Formats: sequence, structure tokens, C-alpha cells
Amino acid sequence: MTLGLDQKMNNDDADLESSTVAPPTGGQADLLHRMGLEAGHAAVVGLQWGDEGKGQIVDQLAGHFDAVVRYNGGNNAGHSVHIGQEKFALHLVPSGILYPDKLNIVSNGVVVDPSPDTGILKEITGLRNRGVLIGENLRISDRAHVVMPYHKVQDALYDEAVAHTWESGTAIGTTGRGIGPCYADKALRTTAIRMGELLDPDRLREKINRVVTIKNVLLSALAEHCGRPFDPFDPQVLLEQAVAQGQNLKSHVTDTFQLLHNTVMAGKRVLFEGANAALLDIDHGTYPFVTSSSTSSLGVGPGTGLPVQTMKNVIGVAKAYTSRVGGGPHPTELQDEVGEHIRNVGKEFGTTTGRPRRCGWLDLTAVRYSVRLNGCTAMVCTGLSVLAGLDPLKVCVGYRYGGRKSENFLPDADVLAQAEPIYEQLEGFSGVIGDIQDYRDLPAPARAYIDRVERFVGVPVRVVCVGPRRDQTILR
Ligand code: IMP
Repeated sequence: MTLGLDQKMNNDDADLESSTVAPPTGGQADLLHRMGLEAGHAAVVGLQWGDEGKGQIVDQLAGHFDAVVRYNGGNNAGHSVHIGQEKFALHLVPSGILYPDKLNIVSNGVVVDPSPDTGILKEITGLRNRGVLIGENLRISDRAHVVMPYHKVQDALYDEAVAHTWESGTAIGTTGRGIGPCYADKALRTTAIRMGELLDPDRLREKINRVVTIKNVLLSALAEHCGRPFDPFDPQVLLEQAVAQGQNLKSHVTDTFQLLHNTVMAGKRVLFEGANAALLDIDHGTYPFVTSSSTSSLGVGPGTGLPVQTMKNVIGVAKAYTSRVGGGPHPTELQDEVGEHIRNVGKEFGTTTGRPRRCGWLDLTAVRYSVRLNGCTAMVCTGLSVLAGLDPLKVCVGYRYGGRKSENFLPDADVLAQAEPIYEQLEGFSGVIGDIQDYRDLPAPARAYIDRVERFVGVPVRVVCVGPRRDQTILR
């Protein structure tokens, strides 16, 4: 049995493409049944370092829920939805927007770039131009923090300055969307701006004057340190832009805490759409090579204001191999022709910048860690077809580090960078498997691969994706 929309994750730098398309219809109820999702709310989360293809699942599931909620991250994330020849790329707007009757909530844990050039207003305009209805079905928390233009400058300069001074000469390699500096200001409090403040020009004027004075001092010093030119920000210009953006978004900004509690109390079903992925989690990822939010299902509580026990189901999505974009340890990375093969066949390049993703064997130790962190109740394995033609296949089942063996993931980035993967070899498979629609028709070694994943991580793999198209998603 197959289902789904034809789509592919392009998290790091996908962008909206022009053209018009009809909204997709819902997936099949069988998906809910097979995933044990008949009742309760659910979250979909990435189990590696991003770009796992979770959008392929979120969009299918969205049809069966009443509301879709983004609870973490910003427009560093996103996924592209391919419907026939058409493509939608969503960065901040939840996936439910492609269904006319769903409520879409950007909750307090998200950082929102409101700008019409790079942010949510651009996304809204792009979607509207293609016939997608956006009105009361999109709600943005008044407590979500605002990514301001200086955050993006700070992001770039800071990453560059760090690369200069770090012994390794490496930077985090951020997406440059101002995510880290915005969350940093949230933690600092006095230099942060929340969405609700965009609707109050007097309060905003006082705030922007204060913040911009500080930012100009910091950024000019940082720019000088990096040998870069820096034009100080004009508080009046920023104020005018921010007020205009606030007016344009006014009808969407609300108290999403109340809205979500009312939604849940009314017996509606909520799907939480995790952004980024577990190994990029600010607390539990490969720190400091992580993003700045709680990317796992644990982020749903603080990111929405709903109690943690609200969630019944957590679906973890992992690729049949590993990819990573940006800096940081990646023990199973293959800098050889196999890695090249995976990158080319899996189209592991960002769609706008063309940044090549660092590809390698599946790290089961890492995936099991993420499954435990998220409390996954089911798993989805994507990208299986990319492995066709490779024999043998290898999966990492532990590490050697400092003369010792570890069966567990090593989230400390310095430790992980020195860890040597312990591989288990599995028989490969060949041929084109992208057209297979029944799990039993997959080559026996491909099924054995999925069995091994399942046994190692300890949760059932309910769905296997053999390609990004809607007819390439196989229910087990
Ligand atoms: P930031 O979130 O822009 O600060 O980037 C921090 C790190 O996380 C960088 O290595 C990014 O490449 C990576 N990253 C952030 N979001 C995603 C994502 O959605 N997919 C893949 N990598 C991501």
C-alpha cells in the first residue's frame, strides 16, 4: 500500500518556487492505524542531524489532525512538498496550511523572521500567490520571539569570528538566518522583542532604541575584528519596518497558549511538527554543533505551554543513511566514492546554495539515542532506495573511544569527534526499488536491513520510504 505527497526535505536552504497548485487531499486512514495513531495527539521529529524527510510524513498525517503546530526553531528549517511537478517549500508556516480546513499554529517556542524579503511574510505571499488560502487558519504566538535584521548580521559575523579564533578553525556553519542570536536575546531578555510588541509602536520604539544602541556597539566591534565593513542600524528604519510587518501580521498574532488549550479541551487532535532534528538539540545534541532550540518532542511543553503528558504518539523519522550539513562530528561520514554515491543518488545538496551534505553510513547508536530522547512510539525509515547497489552495507552499532568501547551515543562533540565507529556489515541489495508498493516485494536484504534497524533501536519501523514521491511511501 502506498500513500503520501511527492516531496523531499530540503531543510537547510530550500526556497519557494513559483507556480500554482491545488491543495493536496488527505492520506489514508490506514497510516494512522498502522502507526497506532487512532487516538491522541502526535509529534513527528527528526532522529539525525536534519533533512530526514519528515515532511513526507507530516503532510500525510496532517490530513488526519485538526491542528498542526510548529513549536521550535525558525526558518532555518523547512521542507519542500512536491505535488506532481509543483513544489512548495515551507520554512515557518506549518504543513497543515496546504489543507484548507486545518488550524496552523506557530507557537511561542518558535523564532519568527517577519520580513517580506526573507521571512514569514514572504512565505505567506508566496503561498497566497499560488492559491493557498491563508487567513484565520494561521495563528502566530504573541510570545514568539522576533528575528530582527541585526540577528542575521550577528549570526554571520559571530560564526566567522569563532572560526578565526577556534583552534580547529571550524565554525558551526549556521544557516545564517539569525536563529542563534535571536534565541540568545530571548535568554538575555532585555534585548529581545516578541511578536506581540510589533503591534505596540510606542513600546516598540523605546525597545528598539535601546536594543539598537547596544547591537551597533557590539556588531561594529565584531565586524572590525573580522575585517568586515559594518553600517550601523538606524533605529527609526528598523522601527518603521517592524511596525509595518506587525500590521501585516496583526490578524494572525494571538495568544496561542489559550488557543491550544481550547483546541485540546474541545477534543481536537493536534500534530506537532518538529523542526531541525534531535542531534541538533540545544541540550541533548552534539553541542556546540547544534541549533539553539529544543528540537525533540521534549520541546513541545515549553514551546507551546501544553503539559508534556498531552502527547500520546511520537513518530521518529530517520534516513537509511546519515547526512549532516554544517560543522560538527559525524563518525560515519564517508569521504570516499561511497559517500559521493550516497550524496549524488540521494540528492544531498541544498536546493538554493547547493551546499553538499556530508553523507555516511547509518549510525544506529545515534538513532537509538534519539528514539529514547524523544520517547518514540514508531519510526519511519526514509531514503532506502539510495542504498541500492551498495554491497556490503554497514551500520554503526557502537564506538571505540580512548581504548574503550561504548554501546551508547557520545553526545559530547569533542568525544564524538575522536570516536571510531564499530560497524556491523549487512548484505546489500540492488535494482530499482522505487516502484515497489508492497513491503513484501522489497528484496530480502532490504527487509533484513529494516529488521536490523528495528531490533537495534527498539521501536517498530512502520513506514519505509523508497523515494520522495507520493507513491513511494510503503506501509509495513
Ligand atoms: P542554525 O540553526 O542556523 O544556528 O545552525 C546550526 C547548525 O544546525 C548548522 O550546522 C546548521 O547547518 C544546522 N541546521 C539547522 N537547522 C537545520 C535543519 O533543519 N536541517 C539540517 N541542518 C540544520
